[in-house]
Amino acid sequence: MKTIVVANQKGGIGKTTTATAVASILDSKGYNTLLIDADQQGNSTDTYKAEIEGVCTLYDVLLEEKSDRVSIEEAIQETENGKIVASDPLLRKADEVLNNDVEGLYRLQDALANLKGYDFVVIDTAPSMNSILYNCLIAANEIIIPVTADRYGLQGLSQLHQTIAAIKQRQNKDLKIAGLLLVKYNGRTVLGKEVRESLQKIASDMETKLFETTVRESTKAKEAQAVRKSLIKYAPKSTTAIDYAGFVDELLGGE
Ligand SMILES: Nc1ncnc2c1ncn2[C@@H]1O[C@H](COP(=O)(O)OP(=O)(O)O)[C@@H](O)[C@H]1O
Ligand SMILES: [Mg+2]
Repeated sequence: MKTIVVANQKGGIGKTTTATAVASILDSKGYNTLLIDADQQGNSTDTYKAEIEGVCTLYDVLLEEKSDRVSIEEAIQETENGKIVASDPLLRKADEVLNNDVEGLYRLQDALANLKGYDFVVIDTAPSMNSILYNCLIAANEIIIPVTADRYGLQGLSQLHQTIAAIKQRQNKDLKIAGLLLVKYNGRTVLGKEVRESLQKIASDMETKLFETTVRESTKAKEAQAVRKSLIKYAPKSTTAIDYAGFVDELLGGE
């Protein structure tokens, strides 16, 4: 089982779109895939049309009192878009709860250690550096970092890199940044050589690479979120969906 975390502490950069697209493409290729929504805002949960009320969520897996905590299996919902562990607004209590427990950063790793029969776990994360993100990074094998080519798209990457490096050193020595993925790219212009080179430089400073695949911008990506469907199901022929499919091939090819 491979656990892939989609992270970047900037909001609105394309984490949820990437996580839901990658999970549903892997699923459609026949891999048994689980999406985990680790962002309290629940955008992946919403896109997958999963429930939050009256079901077990990531909150029950990670933050509930030990005697009431549930296994990750119990929190999996099967939706028309695929399998998901839903987020919960109560995840906002994470720091308060997890920082008071010496094992608080290892709860997701422990939960996933008991999950059997899955090929991939894809985790969507929140735009914040908190103990839920640390749980995700400690439980992960690989990280995908979506970036955009605009002026602000690269802010905060060095902080993320420092966090990843610290976790690699102490808690998860095999953690790997799979790469930076340029998303929401304006497909009308060919990706400029300078932009690509500067992203490659940033990637190599982070001891990783820039993925060859670039994900173009299309209105279908926004529409898919609005109608609560994974882009791959909503508009499989859109440029964005085609690019994500190419990206997953690149990701798998790197095995
Ligand atoms: N390739 C794309 N083309 C057009 N819009 C996109 C694309 N990727 C993401 N978006 C839109 O950008 C916004 C932010 O994306 P989202 O994936 O929710 O980011 P994050 O999870 O990092 O906050 C959403 O409205 C989403 O629909
Ligand atoms: Mg999001």
